[in-house]
Amino acid sequence: MDSTELHFYQPSFSELERRYLLQALEGRYWGGGEWVARLEEALRLFYGREAVVVSSGTAALHIALTLLLGEAGGEVIVPTWTFTATASEIVHAGGVPVLADVDENLHLSPQTVEPLISPRTRGIIVMHYAGAPAPLKDLLDLCKRYNLWLLEDACHAIPSLYEGQLCGKFGTAAALSFHATKPIASGQGGAILFSDPELAKKARQLRQHGIRRNLEAPWDYEVETLGWNYMLSDFQAAVALAQLERLPETHQKRQNIARLYTSALQDLSHIRPYPFERFQSVSWHLYPVFWKGASAEQRDKLLRELRQKGIQLSLHYKPLHRHKAYSPYLRPTQRFPQAEHAYNEIFSLPLWADMTEEQAYKVIEALRIAIPA
Ligand SMILES: Cc1ncc(COP(=O)(O)O)c(C=O)c1O
Repeated sequence: MDSTELHFYQPSFSELERRYLLQALEGRYWGGGEWVARLEEALRLFYGREAVVVSSGTAALHIALTLLLGEAGGEVIVPTWTFTATASEIVHAGGVPVLADVDENLHLSPQTVEPLISPRTRGIIVMHYAGAPAPLKDLLDLCKRYNLWLLEDACHAIPSLYEGQLCGKFGTAAALSFHATKPIASGQGGAILFSDPELAKKARQLRQHGIRRNLEAPWDYEVETLGWNYMLSDFQAAVALAQLERLPETHQKRQNIARLYTSALQDLSHIRPYPFERFQSVSWHLYPVFWKGASAEQRDKLLRELRQKGIQLSLHYKPLHRHKAYSPYLRPTQRFPQAEHAYNEIFSLPLWADMTEEQAYKVIEALRIAIPA
């Protein structure tokens, strides 16, 4: 790609990221110490929940599910409309994913979940697609009725609000991602939020090999349980902390571009934006749109054509039930009509905090030419 080409995403950073990163470089322990602790404290204050920082959103889901499922395993209901990590980590934690269709906002809903609940069901993972909050109240009511836990995959949802409260504060646990394209980005990174400090303590142990250090003799330790090396380095934590402190500014910038898209798309009769207006507050992680009446082949052709012209659009998602690795988890008569319908028409527009209005108009113009009215 040359410099005139428009990427799907570009990092946005300031003097603050630069300063914190250099300070971390001067630090005494690069492996994850002072800056990880600072980031955890900042997240704890932001969310009002215990925060355990880990090396990715995937690691966050893996640890959270390991704790929630325990030795017993069991089934976990998960939307087919999500990234693979939401469901793969159920398997890695010893459980069985049960894929559910989504509602017209591409979220799990009681209507899609309830028919899948069985005596083997242990919990539900809800994913706040594109940073638009899923119907948490209805899903929490359902969980209460069937004695299930709710895990929020809030990897898209920093800082989305549901009924005035941050997404990530509702489930028994929540997973956050600081992957390069997310609203808080540190290259790789993530965190788990818990209301129960005991679970947070266990998660801290699992992220470092299940080790408990002897504080009297720090060279000595006991491996109490088998864990992983899911620690974040201090460099990544320093960048994530700067990004968290700048979130009000970057969120506003993403919102400005998103509003520009929404207004400019009114002239494109074949394109319908994702219904963001139904939600009180969204993170603007993604800006998905639907090409009304299109087929997956037409959509793929469009994405290919625009890439050739130097404009990167993307697809979120090809639903999980369409992927080979999930075929063992499908039930014989299961259908996913809403996800299938959306899969034909959907694609995502480029969006990042420092995107210029000119770049956003360039995307709209390219669509106007490629999809004539
Ligand atoms: C919905 C969702 N869940 C989980 C993840 C995994 O996060 P990470 O890439 O930080 O492992 C992602 C990230 O891409 C995601 O979009």
